[in-house]
Order: sequence, then structure tokens, then C-alpha cells
Amino acid sequence: MKTLSQLVCIGTLALAAGCAHGPATDDSTYQGLGGQGGIKKIVDTFVPMIMADARIKESFQDTDLKNLSMRLEEQFCELSGGPCKYKGKDMKDIHDGLNITNAQFNALAEDLQAAMDKHGVAPAVQNKLVARLAPMQKDIVTK
Ligand code: HEM
Repeated sequence: MKTLSQLVCIGTLALAAGCAHGPATDDSTYQGLGGQGGIKKIVDTFVPMIMADARIKESFQDTDLKNLSMRLEEQFCELSGGPCKYKGKDMKDIHDGLNITNAQFNALAEDLQAAMDKHGVAPAVQNKLVARLAPMQKDIVTK
């Protein structure tokens, strides 16, 4: 099965999706997300969506959601070129043993896109953030 990264980065969509993976070189994606305030709003919509999503909610039963939200805000801010530093655990370490599937990874990415839609984030900006998350799939999916 193709990874999300491969799906996002095929053909003419590749440029729009920001398929030159790696750190952001400017803060246009961060600005497109609405800066720190916009990212907080997106995460505050995204986390309840995860908890309502039958495909993945089980995994988060014992998770400290306040911590998760904080870490996601830092991560999205840093990845989008904003002035933050992710202070959470290594992606491979934290997801190890959770037996996460590609389908679950894609479900979470879908919820994130729906949360960004709700806050009016432009599709090109959404694609850029997702493209920067996509390389993490190999560390998160273990099943
Ligand atoms: C792009 C995809 C994903 C990203 C960016 C991501 C990011 C994160 C971050 C930043 C944390 C917090 C780390 C910390 O506390 O230091 C976390 C924790 C967690 N993630 Fe993910 N995650 C992703 C996919 C998934 C998926 C698909 C699942 C399950 C269906 C999942 C389940 C969890 C759980 C259960 C925790 C809490 C673990 C614990 O506290 O011990 N994640 N994730």
C-alpha cells in the first residue's frame, strides 16, 4: 500500500503539496494556518474529532489530552515555519507499541484536514502541513 507521503507527492499536485520535505524555509504555512491563535483553534477542534472517531478513539483512552493538545500545537507551529520548538517525545518512541495501522494514520490525517476546513484554512496550506507530517508515517505505523 502506498504511504500518505507518496499519495500526496504524486504528479502535478506535488509542487502544491510542498513535496520538498524537510523543515519549512519560510513562515507562509504558519501564517496560512492563522499563526499561533489559528493553530490553537485547529487543535481544539481536531482533538475532540479524534475522540469521536470510531476508527481511532480507542487508542487515546488513557491519553492526557491537555498534554497532547499542547504538543500538537508546538509541533504544527514548528513544522509550518512558526516561532515554536516541539518539546514532546520522539515520534517513534511515543507511538511504539500502539500497533497503529496505515488506515488509522490516514483516519487521523483526514480528521486534521476536516478541522482545518472548519477554520477556513486554504487547501494549499492544508496540503503543506499534511505533506510535512507524512514522513512521520514510517515512525508511527507499526502494524
Ligand atoms: C501525523 C500523524 C500523527 C502525529 C503528528 C502525532 C503526534 C503526536 C504527538 C505530538 C504526541 C504527543 C507526544 C508527547 O506526549 O510528547 C502523540 C501522542 C500520541 N499519539 Fe500520535 N500522532 C500521529 C498519529 C497517531 C495515530 C494515527 C494514533 C492512533 C490511532 C496516535 C496515537 C497517539 C497516542 C495514543 C498518543 C499518546 C501516547 C502516550 O501518551 O503515551 N497518533 N502523537
